Amino acid sequence: MATDGTRVPQESEDRAGGTARRALLGAAVLGAGGAVLGLPGTASAARGAGHGGGLGSLPVPTVIGHRGASGYRPEHTFGSYQLALDLGADIVEAGDLVPTRDGHLVCRHEPEIGGTTDVASHPEFADRRTTKVVDGVPTTGWFTEDFSLAELKRLRAVERIRANRPHNTLYDGRWEIPTFEEVLRWQDEQSRRRGRPVWIYPETKHPSYFRKLGLPLEERVAALLRRHRKDRRTSPVIVQSFEPSSIERLNRLVDNPLVVLLSSANSRPWDFVEAGDPRTVADLITPRGLREIAGYAQGIGPTLDLVIPRDADGRLTRPTTLVADAHRVGLVLHPWTMRNENPFLPADFRAGTDADAYGDAFGAFRTYFATGIDGVFTDNPDTAVLAREDCVKG
Ligand code: G3P
Ligand code: CA
Repeated sequence: MATDGTRVPQESEDRAGGTARRALLGAAVLGAGGAVLGLPGTASAARGAGHGGGLGSLPVPTVIGHRGASGYRPEHTFGSYQLALDLGADIVEAGDLVPTRDGHLVCRHEPEIGGTTDVASHPEFADRRTTKVVDGVPTTGWFTEDFSLAELKRLRAVERIRANRPHNTLYDGRWEIPTFEEVLRWQDEQSRRRGRPVWIYPETKHPSYFRKLGLPLEERVAALLRRHRKDRRTSPVIVQSFEPSSIERLNRLVDNPLVVLLSSANSRPWDFVEAGDPRTVADLITPRGLREIAGYAQGIGPTLDLVIPRDADGRLTRPTTLVADAHRVGLVLHPWTMRNENPFLPADFRAGTDADAYGDAFGAFRTYFATGIDGVFTDNPDTAVLAREDCVKG
């Protein structure tokens, strides 16, 4: 369901909610409008714009380091997470979560790890290579659920998008696969060092698939958040998922801010497919669908194309009403994913045809920020921070 960053350039591709929580969100939404419209005196792209913690305390638009700073380092490694913070990300997407055979949560974008680790060069794991059907898609490779944590720790991460990001291959083999528990400890250490809460944004990956395997994700996420006292409304942890039922389940387990991810309009969340629910993302972004989401989540994470669709040539068209519609029911929007390289940008902002060259990413960021979105997932947090400063200066 989720995109993996290799399908370019179409990124079209890819406990009770509580009144108090929504009140904080309202503050975030108002902040967003001020910042992007450049209204005098209302720009809120500053730390501590809201007080009391929670989403309302984040700068807006919020810069979310996608899989860390994956434009510069192999994704979902402590090298990538650390760089995202150092480059100014307000939140680090640490991480996309999948389980090991012995029930630990590790940070990988998908269960198959052939594309992001050196597992293929480990002869002792050659017989683990297999084909499975993940969310309806036959997939061949090595799967986290077939490895113990101790075995996975023998692997090292490598760059996924090698064609576009040859420089990042320099770091192949440098970092191991992080566990979610290590991320929670790293978050504490970084918060102490920086004298402020460091935010993270974990995602439950393929939750229906793993529940069927007897490795449910939500209870594990909730248990770890509770153990680290990070399961509260004001904890600096937002949890996201492409499967609405995963977010509904988490809403019963923890008080953290929750976000429903939305892929292209004609796609169906995999839990809907399994349940025989015919609705698509197009149904979820209607006023009725958004009201329903607002009953158990605080935000949505739509693909950028749901905010500004592209035409057949990849050029931006007119913004949809999604930002206004979501804000009307108190939901924040954190779309995905902005990347600096030409193939990932809207055609309007490409410069030449080199696949590993940057286009006018600043122009693209500013255009998306002008729609009133509350934040953005990006592989290049430093570019996003500078673009936000441009918008605030007006
Ligand atoms: O989670 C938001 C963003 O990461 C989009 O999805 O496929 O990169 O996990 P994906
Ligand atoms: Ca993700």
